[in-house]
Amino acid sequence: NSIKVFSPSTVANVGCGYDVLGFALDGIGEEMIVTETADGKMEIEENEKFDLPLKPEKNVATVAAKALLEAAGVEKGYRFSFDKHIHPGSGMGTSASSSAGAVFAVNELIGRPFDTKQLVEFAMEGEKMLSGKAHADNVAPNLLGGFTLVRAYGPLDVLQLPTPEDLYVAIVHPQVVVKTTDAKRMLKQTVKLEKAVSQWGNVGGLVSGLYESDYDLIGRSMEDHIVEPIRKLLIPLYDDVKAQAMTDGAIGCSIAGSGPSIFAFAKGKETAEKIKASMQSIYDEVGILAYTYLSKIGTEGVRVI
Ligand code: HSE
Repeated sequence: NSIKVFSPSTVANVGCGYDVLGFALDGIGEEMIVTETADGKMEIEENEKFDLPLKPEKNVATVAAKALLEAAGVEKGYRFSFDKHIHPGSGMGTSASSSAGAVFAVNELIGRPFDTKQLVEFAMEGEKMLSGKAHADNVAPNLLGGFTLVRAYGPLDVLQLPTPEDLYVAIVHPQVVVKTTDAKRMLKQTVKLEKAVSQWGNVGGLVSGLYESDYDLIGRSMEDHIVEPIRKLLIPLYDDVKAQAMTDGAIGCSIAGSGPSIFAFAKGKETAEKIKASMQSIYDEVGILAYTYLSKIGTEGVRVI
């Protein structure tokens, strides 16, 4: 009783939409093999590439899968083996792809008792264990594909948004460590009304831009007046990368999730390629190790392969 799934990486926040907006990447993520164990225990297979938590109570995949199994009243254990394409701690939803992939896989193996939106709630348990707060802006696009909006958390109301055909994303992951817990803690708990007005104007504009495939509107709606000015201080050369991306033709550029990765949207692959190359060379010039990626928006969420 075993299954193999592909679980996409995701970019949360999308500039103006802190904790509510997110999108999936196309073909970038992780493969996961989930196999039922004979002794009913949860197990994480040691990873060749990355140092992943091996204790079931410390790994997001087993925590999320356990939440699902308990709700289903099923007493079974599973062994999880991961092949991750990107480095954990990138801000590209690497933990979310494990928790969402795990609940998706286990749900399939036990006969699919839950629908996708219920899976979002179970996957959030993994996020909660990791960052102290159960946010869904990464696990929702992972499970549903494309762009998603978490309209409300209590009760959870997740909406799927359309994907403009020609929208590409260039991403750079400079190798500095930013923990989501720290990146959350550093934010102010209150927001000036003036800033809030600009921010919700932008969230509405971005959603409308996605519906209309209006690339200019998407671009001018992405600016984040609340989170980016604080978090960018953790990311080396952030302003340079953003300025160069805009010069290269990006429609918008911001922090991927809680960072340190930076993403830029472009209309068309050629522009996105150019932005990606500039991102790489900015870090190469100063000797900071950085990985770059190019992707379309992943319209398909986690799936069996
Ligand atoms: N939206 C959250 C944050 C989680 O920015 O802190 C992203 O991983």
